[in-house]
Amino acid sequence: MSYKNILYSCENRVCTITVNRPEKLNALNRETIAEIGRAIKSAESDQNIRAVILTGSGNKSFIAGADISEFALFTPDQGKELSQHGHDVFNAVERCSKPVIAAVNGFALGGGCELAMACHIRYASENAKFGQPEVKLGLTPGYGGTQRLPRFIGTGRAIELLITGDMIDAQEAYRLGLVNKVVPQQELMNDCFQLAQKIVQQAPVAIAQVLNCVNDFMNKKTNGFDTEVNSFGYCISTKDFKEGTSAFLDKRKPVFKGN
Ligand code: COA
Repeated sequence: MSYKNILYSCENRVCTITVNRPEKLNALNRETIAEIGRAIKSAESDQNIRAVILTGSGNKSFIAGADISEFALFTPDQGKELSQHGHDVFNAVERCSKPVIAAVNGFALGGGCELAMACHIRYASENAKFGQPEVKLGLTPGYGGTQRLPRFIGTGRAIELLITGDMIDAQEAYRLGLVNKVVPQQELMNDCFQLAQKIVQQAPVAIAQVLNCVNDFMNKKTNGFDTEVNSFGYCISTKDFKEGTSAFLDKRKPVFKGN
């Protein structure tokens, strides 16, 4: 599959998706969002892939938001369509059955912060900056920022960031619970890869079920407790469960095949 605005590579069962528009600080135009959607679908359907890392090109920016030059002259209907498209793709990231780790290597503003929040885990470099500056453009966030930010940092702090458009640095994002870990920039990709390597050793079906349970908790569409009961029962039907329990009893390392 060929891409124009992203790089897609795979190593040791981990796929890395890199938004590659460094001259625009990796701002997301419509085409790039669509390519991220295609890349996630591709990683999802590839049996050899068990985890995904999402990052931006260069050492200054993860993603500096939606591409402002693209929507400056939009009509309201075009604006709604763009926002819906972003929601569809970012929801697909959140709903991916394989863990998606955001390697936030610089500015994560607007759509960049929103995409990082749609990922399952966030590691940030020391120079990363987070913010939802849309109000400065006369806009609301359009890719889930008003819904996901309060979940991570609480309503009061989220509203403050959303209505001032202020940026916070990586340490503050860590303190607020928006990122899992802050590391020196040169260690970011390696740390994310090490994390991914730990994840790929675990049972893929169980991981997919955990992500689904947590998504049901967050999105409140279905009762997450019911989802968990069903997931637990389902996992017991899998070969991975038999492998995991036999390996424990045989005092050996399990080898999970994802079935
Ligand atoms: N959309 C389109 N282009 C963008 C962009 C965006 N969101 N963010 C940065 N760029 C472009 C700039 O226009 C500039 O392009 P140019 O060289 O052709 O003029 C290039 O990326 C470099 O950005 P620049 O502003 O010169 O870098 P900086 O270090 O001075 O500032 C930021 C960095 C991130 C603070 C600043 O670019 C910015 O505020 N970007 C917009 C952030 C935003 O509002 N995002 C939400 C959009 S809904």
